[in-house]
Amino acid sequence: MHKIKIITSTTREGRKGVIIANWITELVKGMADVEAELLDLAEINLPLMDEPNHPKMKQYKHPHTLAWSRKIEEADGFIIVLAEYNYGFPAPIKNALDYLFQEWQHKPVGFVSYGGASGGLRSTQMLKQVVTTLSMIPLVEQVALSFFTKYINEQSRFVADATIEKAAGTMLSELHRWMTILRPMRGA
Ligand SMILES: Cc1cc2nc3c(=O)[nH]c(=O)nc-3n(C[C@H](O)[C@H](O)[C@H](O)COP(=O)(O)O)c2cc1C
Repeated sequence: MHKIKIITSTTREGRKGVIIANWITELVKGMADVEAELLDLAEINLPLMDEPNHPKMKQYKHPHTLAWSRKIEEADGFIIVLAEYNYGFPAPIKNALDYLFQEWQHKPVGFVSYGGASGGLRSTQMLKQVVTTLSMIPLVEQVALSFFTKYINEQSRFVADATIEKAAGTMLSELHRWMTILRPMRGA
């Protein structure tokens, strides 16, 4: 059994990211041999990084960090539902990554990015540099949603077309392969 955590990247009032996150979470729940959990950064509500020690030391002072550490520790892989703010990654996801270190290591991460023309690709490229510093494995296979609002219906549900479904399926199967080969490396 592999545990996949789906993480949002935005927290603002009326954010759209959680709609996309709900869609990909449902797809992950349909996978065999996988347990999916959505970690919505708006709900988790981490303050701006306030730990006195470097996360590598794992000497956490605050209950919010301990709770976040437990969630990420138990994961085998991640999907980041990534918006693009001013051609870069939104601050909440960088903050959430910065809180921890060892918990992220040697785990794969897939991206579902969204935006205007770029579909969040610039944001993804920037975040790849950050996640590799945490020894995570960013997948090449990704879902990049250009002009994503056209896939959101009146009930605020994300409705994927065949191309998006295919991209998601490819990304998820690659995520599964990486989770399988990286688990022994972690001694897990
Ligand atoms: C501060 C801000 C900056 C943005 N910058 C970009 C951008 O650089 N590229 C882009 O494609 N969309 C950009 N957008 C539009 C977002 O793609 C769109 O608002 C999306 O809904 C943001 O994700 P969220 O709703 O989960 O916050 C920006 C939106 C905001 C609020």
